[in-house]
Amino acid sequence: MIIKSAEYLISSPNYTSCPPDTLPEYAFIGRSNVGKSSLINMLTNYDKLAKTSASPGKTQLINHFIVNKEWYLVDLPGYGFAKVSQSQRKSWERMIEDYLRKRPNLVNVFVLLDSRLSPQKIDLEFINKLGEWQVPFAMVFTKSDKNSQAETSKNVKAFLNKMREDWEFLPPHFVTSATKKLGREKVLGMIEELNAS
Ligand code: GTP
Ligand code: MG
Repeated sequence: MIIKSAEYLISSPNYTSCPPDTLPEYAFIGRSNVGKSSLINMLTNYDKLAKTSASPGKTQLINHFIVNKEWYLVDLPGYGFAKVSQSQRKSWERMIEDYLRKRPNLVNVFVLLDSRLSPQKIDLEFINKLGEWQVPFAMVFTKSDKNSQAETSKNVKAFLNKMREDWEFLPPHFVTSATKKLGREKVLGMIEELNAS
C-alpha cells in the first residue's frame, strides 16, 4: 500500500465521541511501552504522527488518525501499566471494552507483543477476551531489532504454542521493528486486503 497522507484527527475519552463510523478502522493495542505509537509512525512513514515515549502510559485516550482519506488508524492506551490506581484501571478497561465491542466499523485489531519476551499471561488473557467478544485480530511481535532472529523466532513460536491451548485456528501474525522498518509492507498489505473485501 502506498501511503499518500496520514493525519491526526481526534482523541476521544470513549467510543461514543469517536469520529463518524463511516470508514474502515484498524486499532493497535498491547502492553504499555510495547511500541504501538512507534509502529503507527513506522507504518504511515510520519515520524511524529503518534506520540511516543520511553516512559510507559503515554497514550491515554482513543486516538484517531486518517490514512489516505480512506481508513482510520487508532492508537489505544497500553494495558498492564503498574503505576495507575485501581479506579483508573477500571475506567480504562471499560473504555477499551466498550470501544472494541461497540465500534461498528472496527475491522481488525492488531495486538502488539514484545518479541523479546516469553509468553506473558496478561497478553494471553487479553487475547482470550478478544476471542470471547469475537473481535477479529492479528498479532504483531514488536522490537525485533533488539534481539537475534533466533531469539525472536523462539519467543514467537512459544507464544503461538501457548495460544494453541485455547485456539483451534490461529490468527495471522507479523514480526516488526519500528527502528528498522521491518514488517511494514506485510502489515499494510493485510489492511489493504481487508479494505478491499
Ligand atoms: P504507551 O503509549 O505508553 O502505551 O506506549 P507505546 O506502546 O505507544 O510505545 P511507544 O511507541 O511510545 O514506544 C515505547 C519505547 O519503545 C520508546 O522508547 C520507543 O522508541 C521504543 N520502541 C518502540 N518500537 C521500537 C522498535 O521497533 N525497536 C526499538 N529498538 N525500540 C522501539
Ligand atoms: Mg503510545
